[in-house]
Amino acid sequence: MPLEVVDAIPRLRDRLKIDRDAAQTIGLVPTMGALHEGHLSLVARARAECTTVVVSLFVNPLQFDRSDDLAAYPRSLDADVRLCASAGVDLVFAPTVSEMYPTPLDCTVDVGRIADHLCGRTRPGHFRGVATVVMKLFQIAQPDRAYFGEKDAQQLAVIRRLVADLNVPVTIVPVATVREPDGLALSSRNRRLSPDDRRVAPVLYEALRDARQRIAAGDSDAARVRQMAADIIGQRQGVTLEYLEIVDPDEMQPVQVVNRPVVAAGAVWIGSTRLIDNVVCVPPA
Ligand code: PAJ
Repeated sequence: MPLEVVDAIPRLRDRLKIDRDAAQTIGLVPTMGALHEGHLSLVARARAECTTVVVSLFVNPLQFDRSDDLAAYPRSLDADVRLCASAGVDLVFAPTVSEMYPTPLDCTVDVGRIADHLCGRTRPGHFRGVATVVMKLFQIAQPDRAYFGEKDAQQLAVIRRLVADLNVPVTIVPVATVREPDGLALSSRNRRLSPDDRRVAPVLYEALRDARQRIAAGDSDAARVRQMAADIIGQRQGVTLEYLEIVDPDEMQPVQVVNRPVVAAGAVWIGSTRLIDNVVCVPPA
């Protein structure tokens, strides 16, 4: 069957009901579009595991704390649909803002202390916006499986918590971060980097790798590891550190002593572009 692009919720529901009644496994890949190889690795995983693959393309205004960031977010629907077609996607769900939010919401999904640090601290309300739109997408598509990138570690932890706390009947599948050869994590925002910005952008991963290496070598003092990594970014011209923290992988709370696997996560600004990344750091046994 050729790829179908749907913008209306009832149409998507009707189409998916046929598949569900035929006992098909439905996989959902939620995205904000401007697709790249990172998104496509989620799609490939869904294609391998599900009979019906749905990709949602929706730049969700609710999760943006700055209107300039929302306005500047890259949009490329035609190219995205072509990429989905060649990746074997069955359905693209590309709703308008008024289809998703016909009236201002009165009920949203509140996210607790898991959003107290990292992106949740510097972007207040961001994870409420993410959790709310993802919950709506889960209700609309009712997927058996939904695919999320480890690139957004706190988002993945929030979604896992949402599904556990609210008994959402979906299996969350994490997918490893896809990187450029120099280590820069693929991101829709990378296309906003100037050539000079692009040259310094891998410094975030470099700093996180330094943290991973120190922890693997036996340094268990999270404050020291954090400071060393932050210094690598501080020394680089044109890059401003927003945060760099060492947190536990489930609750996303800062740790003092590294005595089990942790996540080193950071956000930097390069010009007017904000980039995030993280790595898992495992202490020696
Ligand atoms: P977006 O940034 O478009 O990302 C969609 C999905 O692709 C997320 O699960 C993200 O973690 C994953 N992803 C992005 N870059 C990746 C990379 N380099 N390697 C692997 N996976 C990668 O995240 C969002 O959209 C939104 O917050 C959303 C969940 C769609 C809710 O609006």
